[in-house]
Amino acid sequence: MTLSVSGLSVSSLVRDVSFEIGAGERVGLIGESGSGKSLTALSIMGLLPDELRASGSVRLGDRELLGMSEKDLSRLRGDELAMVFQEPMTALNPAMRVGRQVTEPGRIHGRRHRAEDLLSSVGLADTARAYPHQLSGGQRQRVVLAMALANEPSLLICDEPTTALDVTVQAQILTLIKAALSRESALLFITHDLAVVASVCERVLVMLDGEIVEAGSTREVLTSPKHEYTRKLLAASDLEARR
Ligand SMILES: Nc1ncnc2c1ncn2[C@@H]1O[C@H](COP(=O)(O)OP(=O)(O)OP(=O)(O)O)[C@@H](O)[C@H]1O
Ligand SMILES: [Mg+2]
Repeated sequence: MTLSVSGLSVSSLVRDVSFEIGAGERVGLIGESGSGKSLTALSIMGLLPDELRASGSVRLGDRELLGMSEKDLSRLRGDELAMVFQEPMTALNPAMRVGRQVTEPGRIHGRRHRAEDLLSSVGLADTARAYPHQLSGGQRQRVVLAMALANEPSLLICDEPTTALDVTVQAQILTLIKAALSRESALLFITHDLAVVASVCERVLVMLDGEIVEAGSTREVLTSPKHEYTRKLLAASDLEARR
């Protein structure tokens, strides 16, 4: 299913943002801290804090998500939209065994999944009876990923999902995201790490001060950036050194 964001603004913090992600496409969103990446993601999910309002249009397939009732949105969130945040503990219930937690979205949407199968799919066989605090940070993020992928969402948004993890664990999670995402799922991947974009995404959007200033294929943008700001980003990363 295609995600079409058109003329999206959030107060003056995000301004007139437009992009599309087709079924099966993986798109990166990069830009400096405070540029509006998370607000863009939260607008799509219908999870903006109360004091902020989004205007414009966010369509998933033929449905308009902006202005949709909270009831319809929360149904969509368990089913077709999923998001993984930087810190896995925010998405986990510390008092519930992870096996029960990963099957929760399946229960809500009437589909039965076996906790062991879901956990095995992210390389965590035999952890169903563990509580979140008994797992490492990387293992927790894999549990969250299993939850996000349980219903084969049409759109998965990852907001810096590996920033808090060390590099080897980060690489495992990225491999997992690529492997576990169904062929029809669209991915919006927020990161400040250009190497991560290069390994995961076909296209990339560059955000600066609430606006998208450059968009194109990852190859194009990372090898011949057009915008001054993208050039700076690239120069500041070690990708430049490896070219
Ligand atoms: N609830 C809020 N009320 C007012 N301003 C906000 C609110 N949330 C975020 N902002 C502001 O909106 C801007 C964009 O925030 P956002 O969280 O989208 O940045 P970001 O690109 O995700 O940054 P980072 O890379 O640090 O996560 C920032 O200047 C931030 O201070
Ligand atoms: Mg953010």
